[in-house]
Amino acid sequence: MNTLKIHHIGYLVKKINAAVKEFEHLGFTLTQDITYDDYRKIDICFLEKDGYTIELVSPTDDTSVVASLLKKYKNSPYHICYESEHFEEDFARLQKEGYTAIDLPTPAPAINSLPVVFLISPKLGMIELLKKP
Ligand code: NI
Repeated sequence: MNTLKIHHIGYLVKKINAAVKEFEHLGFTLTQDITYDDYRKIDICFLEKDGYTIELVSPTDDTSVVASLLKKYKNSPYHICYESEHFEEDFARLQKEGYTAIDLPTPAPAINSLPVVFLISPKLGMIELLKKP
């Protein structure tokens, strides 16, 4: 499990263009332009500063899986994504250890279509597991 590496911090925002500008104002650089994830109905982009990667996520309609989260949390960080070299093993192990998968692994178009899955821990809330290529 200690082979998990932090890939990014997921950040929910209401207006992605305004959020990009504001992060740039704080010194972040846009490393991947806004792309649309058709499966999750979100706009998504990546910014970097001081070796930290932030993913901005914004629902594009009310049926998006994150639309209700945005209503609840407003603009805020909401998950840490961990990159796994042994994705299937780590996914199985996390579930044995009390994490509940909220969906099946699906490709993330914004991350080279690599498989990702979201899990909920009763102690930590939501995490994302990303398969390392
Ligand atoms: Ni993420």
